[in-house]
Amino acid sequence: MTEQDFIPKPYTNEISNGKTSWKSPSNIALVKYWGKKDGQIPANPSISFTLDNCTTTTNLKFTKLVKSVEDYSFDIWLEGKLKIDFKPKIATFFKRIENYLPFLKEYHFTIETSNSFPHSSGIASSASGMSALALCLMDIERLLNPSMIDDYFIQKASFLARLGSGSAARSIEGPIVQWGMHKDTEGSSDLIGIKYPFNVHEVFKNYCDTILLVDKGQKQVSSTVGHDLMHNHPFAKQRFSQAHKNLSKFKNIFAEGNLKEFIKIVESEALTLHAMMMTSHPYFMLMKPNTLEIINKIWAFRVQSKTHVCFTLDAGANVHLLYPESEKSIIDQFIKNELVAYCENGQYICDQIGFGAKKA
Ligand code: DP6
Repeated sequence: MTEQDFIPKPYTNEISNGKTSWKSPSNIALVKYWGKKDGQIPANPSISFTLDNCTTTTNLKFTKLVKSVEDYSFDIWLEGKLKIDFKPKIATFFKRIENYLPFLKEYHFTIETSNSFPHSSGIASSASGMSALALCLMDIERLLNPSMIDDYFIQKASFLARLGSGSAARSIEGPIVQWGMHKDTEGSSDLIGIKYPFNVHEVFKNYCDTILLVDKGQKQVSSTVGHDLMHNHPFAKQRFSQAHKNLSKFKNIFAEGNLKEFIKIVESEALTLHAMMMTSHPYFMLMKPNTLEIINKIWAFRVQSKTHVCFTLDAGANVHLLYPESEKSIIDQFIKNELVAYCENGQYICDQIGFGAKKA
């Protein structure tokens, strides 16, 4: 597969206006994407659980312009409010994907988007947001080229989403998605996310993710800046090779349902991600004191309760608690008794593994 595969042939149909809508989930990485090359190419492969409840719904209305524009013509609304400050990010996205969607300058777009999670929850909406928008744009392309097959639709949606935000490539399908080339995974690609092709044990089928909202404020350092700091990072080489090795280990872990090994890698990946932040130049830290309090509580509780709860982190202070569904009631109690106190305003979000984006 190459980028060339996503440049369309001349369209066979014409369409003057219409609307479409997609609901896309967020995802939580088990092996983290941290570091990229030009063109949104990941420095290492990553793998994630697709989530179910944390979603972005995007409605896209499109009207053919009398004359195509030099720049792009669009408005973006978030939860009913016009968001002028979102425009540069969308314009950058459009610029990156224009070669692959040559109709972009021929239409005016109204993008209406809303998230299922609170806006300032510290939950990144870029994965769900960019994947929902990519899917809406693919709907338009399918109208212009009705012979498009479903596989191509899904692959190109992931390809486009990646160009909006890397992790968004993993938010089209579910329940487990790998993005990035890896020697053991046939069909894996740096250009798109693919459904994890190997056996997955029953225990992972309904895996739970409770997101503890530790700090809902604006992050001091964006992911984009963080990725950039992996260039010339003293530990970059070792980190990228570790991610490849960890991904290999998941093959047996998933097949056997080996929760002990799962926990080891997932927690190590989370701490390594943050270790990369703390050892870059300039260095920075996104964990907060309560992030560490929660981690220590999890470690103590896991030993004492003999459960399999573990944590992971994304690029922020919030903690994702991962555990099998069979342990839900005991972990619920643990959260209420011991962890809620460390969440901002006592807030947390209950989620679980999900099956990907849906037409809304
Ligand atoms: C820590 O996908 O948000 O969540 O490609 O610059 O938009 P951009 O970055 P983004 O990075 C996500 C980083 C992460 C790990 C992960 O999801 O794999």
